[in-house]
Amino acid sequence: MIILDSGRVIDPANGIDGTRTVLIDGDHIREVREQPATPAEKLVHQVIDCRGRWVLPGLVDLHVHLREPGEEGKETIATGARAAVAGGVTTLVAMPNTKPVCDSASVARFVAARGREAGFARVIPAGAITRGSLGEQLADMAELKEAGCVCVTDDGRPVMSAGVMRRALEYARDLDLPVMVHAEDLTLSSGGCMNEGPAATRLGLPGIPAAAEVAMVQRDLLLAELTGARLHVAHVSAAGSVRAIREAKARGVRVTCEAAPHHFTLTDEAVAGVAAALGPAGEPYDAHAKMNPPLREAADIAALRQGLKDGVIDCIASDHAPHAYDAKEAAFDDAPFGIIGLETAFAVAHTELVLNGVLTLPELIARMSSAPAAAFHLAGGTLQPGAIADVVVLDTATRWTVQPAALLSKSRNTPFAGRTLTGRAALTLVGGNVVHQVKVPA
Ligand code: DOR
Ligand code: ZN
Repeated sequence: MIILDSGRVIDPANGIDGTRTVLIDGDHIREVREQPATPAEKLVHQVIDCRGRWVLPGLVDLHVHLREPGEEGKETIATGARAAVAGGVTTLVAMPNTKPVCDSASVARFVAARGREAGFARVIPAGAITRGSLGEQLADMAELKEAGCVCVTDDGRPVMSAGVMRRALEYARDLDLPVMVHAEDLTLSSGGCMNEGPAATRLGLPGIPAAAEVAMVQRDLLLAELTGARLHVAHVSAAGSVRAIREAKARGVRVTCEAAPHHFTLTDEAVAGVAAALGPAGEPYDAHAKMNPPLREAADIAALRQGLKDGVIDCIASDHAPHAYDAKEAAFDDAPFGIIGLETAFAVAHTELVLNGVLTLPELIARMSSAPAAAFHLAGGTLQPGAIADVVVLDTATRWTVQPAALLSKSRNTPFAGRTLTGRAALTLVGGNVVHQVKVPA
């Protein structure tokens, strides 16, 4: 047995917040108790002193782009799963916008099998809503579910046809699969590369209005209401989306949603770059602040934080999106959308939300473990006896500076380079196995 001795245990699913000792027997949690490890136990079991640290259910990240199959130079399932456990993430949902798209059982099985082989975070495939994520013909969702997919999504792209979306929701409802939507009306966003607003005007870059997201969120909420399906809105970035989801929840629509750390910490001013560092083409833009949906404005950040506080935003997800260094160094409008986040999500959220008094630590842990696990009916997110032993031991006092070269992800495209953050996973266990450990001087 592994015994995590006398840490501060936060287990939102069971309402626990206090000093406890967690006993792990093989791959599952055996007991969570008040009594510290006994001298007898110390003789026969592996006892890890957790005093002064926090012991939590492993984090569950519903939105991660691994680039395998197809673009292994950016990330592989193994490198992404390794980076995940360094960030305290024990389960991740792998987005299907790989090459080929995960719209068949064979790709889904491949992703799941590669994840198991890697042996770090649990890698759970998401299947596509439509074949090739082209928004036209529905993928075979029954086959995808059978192959282990826990949701369907065309993430990276919206399903532009409301009729196709309605049918997708009907099928998914009958299979009890959540439909994760990338809410973007392409007729409003097309050609844009950052948030539409004063910053874009000043920088002379074409904008993407918040309405491109909000209009699609509203449409999909209506369709979820019509069909009775489970809708999950990915990477909510705009105040109007939070408002629409709040109203829909109040009238009983089955909707969950997530926000990403960059969206509730950075505004579109970050596109102007740190001290206006010049890109190779001489432009003062920072493509590490380019993602889709784009960074918005202060009022949006305030709405996201309020939504996280009151639970309208159920989950925090990283939207980890690795891209090649060269591609991100291109001129801003040519650079791809997306930033990495697996290794920084917890620390950014802890530093920005908990240390600033927006959320309590138990609230943050709920948004990052129990709530995402519940949204997609995943194992994990709990320290309930009998549950799988996916556990993270956190140092909430450790300050560290994000150095892209030191990250375990294959890609380096983070907007948080050089930032000093507080809080880090010291020890991560998946299925009772230690898969990540930071050596801390005794
Ligand atoms: O910024 C993004 N990057 N947004 C998406 O929706 C897709 C993602 C990617 O795959 O790179
Ligand atoms: Zn995404």
